[in-house]
Amino acid sequence: MKVTFKIWRQENAKSNGGFQSYEVDGLTDDMSFLEALDHLNEILVGQNQKTIAYEYDCREGICGQCGVFINGRAHGPLDNITTCQLHMRSFTDGQTIVVEPWRAKAFPVIKDLVVDRSALDNIMEQGGYISAKTGTAPEANAILVGKDVADKAMDAAACIGCGACVASCKNASAALFTAAKINHMNSLPQGKQEAHRRVLEMSRQMELEGFGSCTFTGACEVECPEGISITNIAEMNARRAMAKWHNL
Ligand code: FES
Repeated sequence: MKVTFKIWRQENAKSNGGFQSYEVDGLTDDMSFLEALDHLNEILVGQNQKTIAYEYDCREGICGQCGVFINGRAHGPLDNITTCQLHMRSFTDGQTIVVEPWRAKAFPVIKDLVVDRSALDNIMEQGGYISAKTGTAPEANAILVGKDVADKAMDAAACIGCGACVASCKNASAALFTAAKINHMNSLPQGKQEAHRRVLEMSRQMELEGFGSCTFTGACEVECPEGISITNIAEMNARRAMAKWHNL
């Protein structure tokens, strides 16, 4: 299999970037997309050229580090998968594949396809945790949680923080990410103690980080590899209104 990769190359956040084309032969259908990029980098090493920087860790759709735009879609042409779960069989022989980094003001490019997503970490620092002392692991049935509540919390907890929602939003809003993290914890009894503070602080930090406002266009839900529902954003807004009312 042979394809042409058109890849964004950029030395650092301050330099101007641009696309560079690479014709790559010797690929197979079964290769993952990241393995195809590995293959290209091996060729570049052999030619004494600078390798392409891209991020990954788990390569199994868990860590959220591998996100890039592929032919204009976050994580590529398939729904509900991450870049590392994409395989070359999703492309045709001879195809041109355009690969770009996430583009958002709050995600400056570090190098090539790698962007700085620490703005999401800064939101998490404002309440994406339970601070009550829980001691050792309690007996599983000590705190009963209804199945509907547990299911909803687990659906929100599926967010892997990849940033596809931000990159695919025309406003570069982080509302879906922030809402998923807030709703996951605020739905459960363990998160109730600091629920109001959490929603106020995390949503305030989201605004401070330079993300845009949500206008409910829904691109985030479509491109989210975990299929997180946009209804989480409405729920976050309701929780925020309630928290403000409690703080009056
Ligand atoms: S490398 Fe971890 S989700 Fe892709």
